[in-house]
Amino acid sequence: MYDFDKHIERAGTNAYKLDLRQRYFGTDDVIPLWVADMDFAAPPAVQEAIQKRAAHEIYGYTIRKEEFTAAIADWCKYKHNWLVNESWIEYSPGVVPALAFSVLAFSAPGDGIIINTPVYPPFYSVIADNGRKVIKNSLVNTDGRYEIDFDLLERQAAQKDTTIFILCSPHNPVGRAWTREELLKIHEICSKHNVLVLADEIHSDLALFGHQHIPFASLNEAAAMNSISFMAPSKTFNIAGFSTSYVVASNPKLLEGYRATQNRLQLHMGHLFSGVALTAAYNHGREWLKDLSAYIEANINFVEQYLKENLPELHFYKPEATYLIWLNFKAWNLPQSDVKTFLIEKAKVGLNDGLSFGKEGEGFMRMNVASPRAVLQQALEQIKAAKL
Ligand SMILES: Cc1ncc(COP(=O)(O)O)c(C=O)c1O
Repeated sequence: MYDFDKHIERAGTNAYKLDLRQRYFGTDDVIPLWVADMDFAAPPAVQEAIQKRAAHEIYGYTIRKEEFTAAIADWCKYKHNWLVNESWIEYSPGVVPALAFSVLAFSAPGDGIIINTPVYPPFYSVIADNGRKVIKNSLVNTDGRYEIDFDLLERQAAQKDTTIFILCSPHNPVGRAWTREELLKIHEICSKHNVLVLADEIHSDLALFGHQHIPFASLNEAAAMNSISFMAPSKTFNIAGFSTSYVVASNPKLLEGYRATQNRLQLHMGHLFSGVALTAAYNHGREWLKDLSAYIEANINFVEQYLKENLPELHFYKPEATYLIWLNFKAWNLPQSDVKTFLIEKAKVGLNDGLSFGKEGEGFMRMNVASPRAVLQQALEQIKAAKL
């Protein structure tokens, strides 16, 4: 068992999660449970591979060899039972940049692009900042479990200028791992109306509590032909600092369209460590990931139990994937700004503002539980004590 209880000091590493607290919360004095990375060491195999490469004193232009795509194809088969041909894969310098390239490649200014809100904030910006129109398909909150309004999706997809649907699967922040039936419905609607599906599956390796991630492109041949998948080892293995991800598209037209835009923007070269980190993680990180997933599940159970016993009016739907809890504060009956002020100034705990994911996030905060359990306990105790 890897030791996820160990406290690792991140101060002095320019960590976003620590060093942007002043800007986001107006103070450094909050326990940071926000930005979606983990306070855990990367798998030992990744550390060793990076250290070995770093020990060589030349850091010149570096290519990724066949082992990069081979590691990805092996991983997709092992983790998702998805058979990916290596020729369908292209490196990308981050999932968000890759989404932006795809928006540029496959839609025109003014086109409508559908997203399921509340959602990870860059989903709005990759659309709006590129002159496209955000079409909000608000998720329906049924007792905490969010579902897609398919009638609305059908109407939105049918609009003449709708060209793309950006799917967040599993979904950040509501924690759904979409079922096969849900994904098939999305596919039916989008293919019927000629809407391309961009499937952001960055959280796919972190399905929890027996839930399963189903790659959109693995549904059937037609879904594969009408989609691009966006994946990365970054969330899974806590290596987001390497800005390394990849796209998978079995439709050669889509892959070529993607590549052409990435190349046109001169962003195809990537990073010396990207191949090193990805191959080490995928080829040697399996046991580590099993332990990590068990630890995250235990953390989620811990938070659930703590709230039940100490702050029973706060609750959340158990995430089906990833380490982010969408915490419902509505029972406090306070304006969002008061919830935020309470958490920052009184409890001294730094959570993401639910409203940053869209107006549906009113009354919610997002808590990142990928920290040693003792840190979570401290944060929860501070919230409880501040309430007294
Ligand atoms: C749904 C989703 N997509 C993309 C990203 C970030 O991807 P990248 O760092 O590769 O751009 C995140 C990070 O939290 C995310 O939650």
